[in-house]
Amino acid sequence: MNKGTRVKISPKLLWKKILPEGAENTYITTTRGTELLGIIFATRWMYKREITVWVTQLCVHREHRNEGIVKSLLASLKTGNDYAVGILSSHPFSISAVARAFGKGVEDIDLGVMKLEAKDVMATCPVTYVRDAKLRGALLEDQPSDGTISCADTQFWVDHGEPDEALSVMKDKGVTWPLGFLPEGHEYLLLVKLESRVES
Ligand SMILES: CC(C)(COP(=O)(O)OP(=O)(O)OC[C@H]1O[C@@H](n2cnc3c(N)ncnc32)[C@H](O)[C@@H]1OP(=O)(O)O)[C@@H](O)C(=O)NCCC(=O)NCCS
Repeated sequence: MNKGTRVKISPKLLWKKILPEGAENTYITTTRGTELLGIIFATRWMYKREITVWVTQLCVHREHRNEGIVKSLLASLKTGNDYAVGILSSHPFSISAVARAFGKGVEDIDLGVMKLEAKDVMATCPVTYVRDAKLRGALLEDQPSDGTISCADTQFWVDHGEPDEALSVMKDKGVTWPLGFLPEGHEYLLLVKLESRVES
């Protein structure tokens, strides 16, 4: 696929991409009356005898964003038994939401954990696009020179207009973005080892 090609994902393909057979797939929604406000999809599997969860999709109604909806959906995903949670997303707010719901926020991400474990965790993930993602960035490669820190080439050619705007909103708020530059066709990569498990 060429750089700049836009992919149209049919519901059937999306379903196939984010709901692998033989894994424990979860989706959680929040509604007000009959209105769907937000939805998340996630997949759990065993990584080195530990239950690990990957957030594969999250979306909030445009008129209800920045109300904490996705963070509360992610909070409902917690079981207390998971070893780590991962996400690939081009959207800084999705990354921030996972970093906050499962850790202390985006500025307190433990990059060392990602450097050590992201590759192995992702290699065992039943979700094909996670398993096939090519890891990129200073954290995950030997000599990147393009400002990338933690991302992956997922061939996800979405317009980066909205994510770039989100990133400048965060920077204007004084947030130091830890995951570096995002090339076209890539998604930021975040892996959080859950605190209770880190301490144990
Ligand atoms: C990304 C998305 C799911 C976030 O959902 P949301 O319910 O608006 O997010 P929340 O209100 O729970 O906030 C999550 C984080 O983003 C930040 N955030 C969200 N909107 C923000 C805004 N307009 N300005 C500043 N920060 C914002 C929050 O402050 C929070 O981070 P923090 O706790 O570290 O401060 C939503 O914007 C969306 O659906 N986008 C389109 C679909 C998409 O791109 N999905 C990702 C595919 S994986």
